[in-house]
Amino acid sequence: MSKTTIALLFGGKSTEHEISIISARSISGAIDRERYRVVPIYITHEGAWFSGDSAAEILALDLSSIMRKSSIENTETLLREMIRNSAEKPFDFNFRAAGIDVVFIALHGGYGEDGRVQGLLDTMGIPYTGCGVSASAIAMDKALTKLCAVDAGVATAPSITLQAASYLADPEPVHELIGSTFDYPLFIKPVSLGSSVGISKVHLPAELPEALKLACTYDRKILVEAAVSGKEIEVAVLGNDQPLASVPGEVEPGSDFYDFQDKYIHNTAKTFIPARLPDELLDSVRRSAITVYKALGCRGMSRVDFFVNEENGSIVLNEINTIPGFTDISMYPKLFEASGIPFTVLVDKLLHYAQEKPEPAGR
Ligand SMILES: Nc1ncnc2c1ncn2[C@@H]1O[C@H](COP(=O)(O)OP(=O)(O)O)[C@@H](O)[C@H]1O
Ligand SMILES: [Mg+2]
Repeated sequence: MSKTTIALLFGGKSTEHEISIISARSISGAIDRERYRVVPIYITHEGAWFSGDSAAEILALDLSSIMRKSSIENTETLLREMIRNSAEKPFDFNFRAAGIDVVFIALHGGYGEDGRVQGLLDTMGIPYTGCGVSASAIAMDKALTKLCAVDAGVATAPSITLQAASYLADPEPVHELIGSTFDYPLFIKPVSLGSSVGISKVHLPAELPEALKLACTYDRKILVEAAVSGKEIEVAVLGNDQPLASVPGEVEPGSDFYDFQDKYIHNTAKTFIPARLPDELLDSVRRSAITVYKALGCRGMSRVDFFVNEENGSIVLNEINTIPGFTDISMYPKLFEASGIPFTVLVDKLLHYAQEKPEPAGR
């Protein structure tokens, strides 16, 4: 049997570049080499694509240890030097000539998880893992995701959306509006970032301007959201027309909220699989995950995150990650592992769903 050739796409122009490299390394380790050939394609911070030895070398790095010992800035410098020191020509986008049958998109954040790469591959007729253009684009925008979820009957936290430019031009009325709408603490988020970048938990009105200004450095749209009390519950979803929801997992942040350091550097967050909730709530949250997945038109995979309050039984959608983390400590693979689908089988299924044609074929 001839092998299927997978292009493994990682790195990318988003703030989650380094996380993508770590995810890609674990995905690469889970791909069955008896059946698949892997062509690593590394996208630099600047957006140049490389498919030769330097991509393979970057994929082989133990970046989580490097990041733990060094700073993000030094890690970026190391990666840039590896590309600079290689005399390699960039990838020519000729997927067919490279014999590529399917692309595993292991990118997180902007340009990779938001529909842009998906659109490029659609245009060239190359199948890829995960959601298509519109679901990716909606899920990347936390404000649009909330609209879809509410429309499908799934609750979200009370929030308002601001234009960064209007806020920066005239901040005072915004401070007043927030003060009269929300109790503290509240959350300020750029609508389209991940890995907690640019997110602040604001405990006092005096902290508000700094949090808003920080979020405005990352995005044109900002979400101001009421803090929800409850457990942080994550559900992994897999499949196309008949998606499957995993056992829900629970994240107990190690700090004030589940921030970047907690997620990737210190690993101080605790996880519980299955989540410590009564069975009926576990079932309801799985159903809500499927509802939201279908409402957005997700395909392949997504991790759907909620706040669940045991006392009043409320299930509140937080966000959807269409290309969730695949690092060793990431929830998506762990949740399916606990649901009876080991990592290698999961990767295989994602590649299978990637090649399943949507019916009717969209135009
Ligand atoms: N409305 C909220 N109520 C309570 N905690 C929140 C709220 N929004 C965000 N958080 C906390 O901040 C973390 C990061 O926010 P999230 O919206 O999930 O951003 P990201 O896309 O960066 O993961 C969450 O995991 C949670 O700990
Ligand atoms: Mg999150």
